[in-house]
Amino acid sequence: MIAARIIGHRGASSLAPENTLAAIRAAANAGVRWVEIDARLLGDGTAVIHHDETVERCTDGTGPLSRYDRMSIRRLDAGRWYGDEFAGERIPLLTEALILIRDLGLGVNLELKAASRSTARRLGAVVAGELTAATMPWERVLVSSFEPTVLEASRKQAPSLLIGCLWSRLPRDWQQQAVALGAVSIHCNWRYLTEQTAHAVKAAGFDLYCYTVNDSKAFLPYWQWGVDGIFTDRPQDFLLSGPPIGVG
Ligand code: G3P
Ligand code: MG
Repeated sequence: MIAARIIGHRGASSLAPENTLAAIRAAANAGVRWVEIDARLLGDGTAVIHHDETVERCTDGTGPLSRYDRMSIRRLDAGRWYGDEFAGERIPLLTEALILIRDLGLGVNLELKAASRSTARRLGAVVAGELTAATMPWERVLVSSFEPTVLEASRKQAPSLLIGCLWSRLPRDWQQQAVALGAVSIHCNWRYLTEQTAHAVKAAGFDLYCYTVNDSKAFLPYWQWGVDGIFTDRPQDFLLSGPPIGVG
């Protein structure tokens, strides 16, 4: 199990522009020990940290990420949309995000996003290579994806990699799929999680993580169901309120 119940979502996206180095630092400053960030490939095969397939929502640029390369992506401002004090933030390269995370002593859940199967295979291989190069301790990295192909590709390249299966709502054959991938954890949308499913996941020996939980009160019963951790935009709410009732 990863050593964190509260995982900063996209860094800590209520405190700084999501998926930037500033958001990772903000998460660490808020007391978070693990962050979740999203990784995608640019057109030239460079891995970067970004949620959407296009750059409009979180930068001053336009178009799909696949139209950018390692040089051109640096020209986009990924902070000003969020607040003037973040002007100058860039879409981070995966490499620089990993170095910062390692240096801050954090753990990372890298969520790998790919628009096609071939991109998924390339992304899996690139990420595994970069994790190895960044000398991240394997116990402080968890790779997850909605796309099993990307997980197979990363596992092939880095057999020690910890893998998490990610679904919005768990499919009927969730256990079969998780076993086939050699996953250690199941990640799902808490809005669709039932008590029965939570117990089944725990009984099958998997860790259980829920996204995106921003309401600490509404989530209280879920801790009793055995949920191991949450992805939240608002780690400050959870960390300041202490550990959930009945949870060690
Ligand atoms: O990894 C959990 C969560 O981040 C999945 O959804 O859209 O926020 O990347 P999304
Ligand atoms: Mg994500």
